[in-house]
Amino acid sequence: MIEMDNKQKFLIYRKKPDGKPVYERFEVPLTPGMSVLEALFYIQDHFDSSLAFRFACRGAICGSCGMTIDKFPQLACKTQVLNAKSTKKPPKLPQLTFGDIPTNWDEKTEILIEPLPNMNIIKDLVVDMEPFWEFYRYVQPYFKREYNDIQPESLQSPEKARSIEHLVYCILCGICWTCPVNDKNSKYLGPTALAKAYRFIADSRLSDEHRSTIVDKVSDTNAVPACEKHFVCNRVCPKNVRPGTAIKNIREEWLSQ
Ligand code: SF4
Ligand code: FES
Repeated sequence: MIEMDNKQKFLIYRKKPDGKPVYERFEVPLTPGMSVLEALFYIQDHFDSSLAFRFACRGAICGSCGMTIDKFPQLACKTQVLNAKSTKKPPKLPQLTFGDIPTNWDEKTEILIEPLPNMNIIKDLVVDMEPFWEFYRYVQPYFKREYNDIQPESLQSPEKARSIEHLVYCILCGICWTCPVNDKNSKYLGPTALAKAYRFIADSRLSDEHRSTIVDKVSDTNAVPACEKHFVCNRVCPKNVRPGTAIKNIREEWLSQ
């Protein structure tokens, strides 16, 4: 655990759009309860206004501030600086490499900040999430008005609602793209889109026609069949959505038919 001795050192991945990646050191005065996101604001305000990172809500709900903190992809706004070193990492995380970390990185005391894995880096900690959104849109994760608006009621039992509730909590942060399959197959739909697909096909309010469209999409070789059952997505998700379990459920409940 980091001692509250006024300052915390950070080693931060930097990359300009056409430049080579480098790591830069910053030292930030600590305040009680300071999050990694707040430390980045301090660096931006006091040392380098060009430091690029995403954020919006600052409350672990918008999904914008995903980044890799000490080789563990997390939400920067939910990670307290004082706990960053003592937080237990999930087991069996893939090795994540972004650039040549300086050999004098003091792993025990300096917090290493890098972008999210398996996405192209636009600048510093900002990644290109367009493929992520493309795959999300592709599975059509929504209800259709032409079906639901003409029903007298879109009924769902409390039990059914509870069974998919955890899937609804996905904040689309992209942290589950830490999956090793996303690393090697750029066409893999990924845990987020597949978990969203399951959230809808398991929902009793979806039309049969729409359900079968989604099932077709997730049956593709680059969708559920491409999952290698690492379950890294389950272990890193900050909202306990358990995308890997959703993929397993699709496989068992829908693809065997
Ligand atoms: S399933 Fe979890 S890790 Fe993946 S995008 Fe949703 S909230 Fe983030
Ligand atoms: S800033 Fe919204 S989740 Fe971190």
